[in-house]
Amino acid sequence: MAPLSVCTLIRSSVLVVFLWSKCSYCAVPTSEEKYAHLESKIAQLEARLDHFENVIKVKDHQHDILVENVSQLQLALHHERQTSSKLVTSINVNDRSNQLAVERTVARTCQEAILADSSLNSGMYWIDPDGQGYGDAPIYVYCDMSKGTTSISHDTESAMDVGNCADAGCYSRAVNYNATQRQMSALADLSVECHQSIKYECSQAPFELDGIKYSWWNDKNGNEKYFWAGMNTDVHTCQCGIDGNCVEASTKCNCDSAAAALQVDDGVVSDKLVLPVTQLNFGGTQNAAAVHTLGRFECSGKETVSGRPRSCLDLWRIGHILSGLHSVMGTNMVQSVYCNLTKIPSDAGFQTEIGYIDVKSSPTYFYVQKNLNFDATNTPIPFEISKLNVGNAMDLASGKFTAPRAGTYYFSFTGLASFPATGSTKVYLVVQLLLNGAAVGMGSTDEANTINSQLTPISLHSTLRLNSGDQIWLEINEISLGAQLYDKANWQSTHFTGWILEEELVNSL
Ligand SMILES: *[C@@H]1O[C@H](CO)[C@@H](O)[C@H](O)[C@H]1NC(C)=O
Ligand SMILES: *[C@@H]1O[C@H](CO)[C@@H](O)[C@H](O)[C@H]1NC(C)=O
Ligand SMILES: *[C@@H]1O[C@H](CO)[C@@H](O)[C@H](O)[C@H]1NC(C)=O
Repeated sequence: MAPLSVCTLIRSSVLVVFLWSKCSYCAVPTSEEKYAHLESKIAQLEARLDHFENVIKVKDHQHDILVENVSQLQLALHHERQTSSKLVTSINVNDRSNQLAVERTVARTCQEAILADSSLNSGMYWIDPDGQGYGDAPIYVYCDMSKGTTSISHDTESAMDVGNCADAGCYSRAVNYNATQRQMSALADLSVECHQSIKYECSQAPFELDGIKYSWWNDKNGNEKYFWAGMNTDVHTCQCGIDGNCVEASTKCNCDSAAAALQVDDGVVSDKLVLPVTQLNFGGTQNAAAVHTLGRFECSGKETVSGRPRSCLDLWRIGHILSGLHSVMGTNMVQSVYCNLTKIPSDAGFQTEIGYIDVKSSPTYFYVQKNLNFDATNTPIPFEISKLNVGNAMDLASGKFTAPRAGTYYFSFTGLASFPATGSTKVYLVVQLLLNGAAVGMGSTDEANTINSQLTPISLHSTLRLNSGDQIWLEINEISLGAQLYDKANWQSTHFTGWILEEELVNSL
């Protein structure tokens, strides 16, 4: 409501009140009394009018603020819309067969963004390497979509003069990135390669001279590094040192030259495990000219998982986001690991080993018996009764077990030797376990002064690592005259049982 119309309204109501009050006093008071009364009435009304005018002023001011606030909000909303249209949308992680790969709305890297939407143009984008909704807030980076490169800016990109100072590391500059260390570590873990260029323009400003290390940089963990190109994490060198073409053959860097001429060492550090550079330190520049230029931290490619995932790192790289117990392919067997996928791979507790999972590609176990005597030597002992033969690895007629898969197997044999009556002459029965024809174990019994049909037990147990196709069987190796491996129908005293204890799944798959 406009202030003017409110005033008019109030003024007209004053008139009404005035007329009405005149009428109600017409019978009694004197005109002086009336006048005094009316004056006080008018004073009251004027006070009220002032009050209303003030109220209107306040309301007007509030109205102005609201209009201002609404237009500010509209501006902010418009800005937000523009920004969010630049958020990389709908990354359905590469491996579409992976059920746990939940749709993300913000890509983890520029490479993942371009893999999900090949129509994206190079430019500034929001990405979230440590996972959307986890860890640190998304970061705003430059994506070169033609190369799939993520590029993180910092406050030390322009050429900077070191100035003059004598001591080792007397000049020092911390590098502040437009991303947290956690986001950059996650980016490196997801990328095939990361690099950062370092240029040092120098004249009599050695990195190293007479064994004194004047200059170094600090890696992401704060460790001092003395290489200015490549992946040589422990040795002082520059690109010319790697290429063997430094201005002075005896040095590893052009800047290490004693000559006064202006030199340049321009290299690319490519060890993604130690990047980015967190601090630059130079010294020995008292009579020198020295300028440093540090490139952006750049990563490209997508670290792929070939074959079956072997760790939480592989699952994370594929795009799993659900923490929990996961099965991964161990060295020989399937392993159970707890993956805390709210962490990044370099965090402690990212992967916890739980144990091995007893996975067999198919079951293998048997239990066979005999129901008749046997006394042939050097002949596989056949069996007549099969209690169990799951996997059919045991062939009863030939008595041979053929390992269907590589792994560790357990076998157990017990039987009875039956001896004739004998005096002091020893009677005996020896049973051997054979692996592909070679004896790997023996069970035997012997007696003297036996009575006819005396029975004594023989037993043999074995745990063996077998390859697929290996054969196991039992033979009587030695037997004295008249002795038997004793058995008969409904007696069943000869037992041969075996099973696969642990399968080497890697070899089966
Ligand atoms: C308008 O915005 C300012 C801050 O910009 C805030 O302090 C104020 O409370 C807002 N006023 C209203 C009426 O929303
Ligand atoms: C740095 O990141 C912030 C958001 O975290 C963004 O607003 C800003 O534009 C970025 N600066 C540069 C130089 O990329
Ligand atoms: C997973 O990691 C997060 C972040 O470090 C931690 O808060 C949480 O307790 C961890 N969960 C388990 C079950 O270890």
